[in-house]
Amino acid sequence: MRNNTKSNSKKLPEFDKYYHYGESVQSPAEDARFLEWIYLKGKGRKPSVFREDFCGTFANCCAWVQRDRKYVAHGLDLDPEPIEYGKKNYLPYLTAEQQSRVHIHEKNVLSRGAPKADIICALNFSYNIFKKRQELKKYFQACFRSLNPNGVFVVDAFGGPRCHEANEEVSENGDPAFDYFWDQESFDPLTHEGLFHIHFKRPGEKKRLNVFTYDWRVWTLPELKDLLEEVGFKRVDFLWEGSTDEGEGDGNFQVVTKGEECEAWVAYVAAFK
Ligand SMILES: C[S@@+](CC[C@H](N)C(=O)[O-])C[C@H]1O[C@@H](n2cnc3c(N)ncnc32)[C@H](O)[C@@H]1O
Repeated sequence: MRNNTKSNSKKLPEFDKYYHYGESVQSPAEDARFLEWIYLKGKGRKPSVFREDFCGTFANCCAWVQRDRKYVAHGLDLDPEPIEYGKKNYLPYLTAEQQSRVHIHEKNVLSRGAPKADIICALNFSYNIFKKRQELKKYFQACFRSLNPNGVFVVDAFGGPRCHEANEEVSENGDPAFDYFWDQESFDPLTHEGLFHIHFKRPGEKKRLNVFTYDWRVWTLPELKDLLEEVGFKRVDFLWEGSTDEGEGDGNFQVVTKGEECEAWVAYVAAFK
């Protein structure tokens, strides 16, 4: 006899690359709290105007204005697609008053007239798009000029021997769960250039390849510090992640003057004007 029992498996919603990206690599509320803490700790007072460079779907801008009624956020990205996504999917969850404090600019981060801010961030390693020292310097100079007196510029960085070779890491994210793949296709020790891809796989579906691709130069921490000081920043701090007893990152970043040998690490660089 045929078994007519209905399958329990629910039909998955249409694949949404920005949803899957956000669930895998972004924590907007935590990032906004962390960036505010860096400013507070360094300057002894709260910032107000936040700028998120390479903002994509500007999730961090939305988180920023939710932290304080006085906070204002500017996001800059040259691609209208993620900006539209943020306007449809994130902005509507803010109150009208919070929305009025979010300003999104479809703009190259290198272009003139970028908004002034107390704190500027470039997260998820986006500045690695600049492969030439002169290009990165131009970007850092533009940030220095845009910052209000006492402003702070924060970027994240990654490194360690594991990123000096091709490899792929997988982790499970989201609810319902899916697999997120961070695939390093190549690394050139002469130029520190690497080609990276993000793939996703949902249960019962084929792996979706190259949903995002990044052709980057992996800048080192001392290179970043040298350049930031060269464009005028007074002080450059490194924030390094603490570790659990098992040797895993514990998500707690503190200012350090000495790093730790790790297979793979993520750190933050905070540059004070
Ligand atoms: C890796 S995504 C980062 C998205 C988001 N900031 C995050 O933390 O996940 C890089 C973004 O940078 C944007 N982008 C690349 N070059 C840019 C430039 N020169 N000026 C402004 N945006 C740029 C891309 O359109 C893309 O949305």
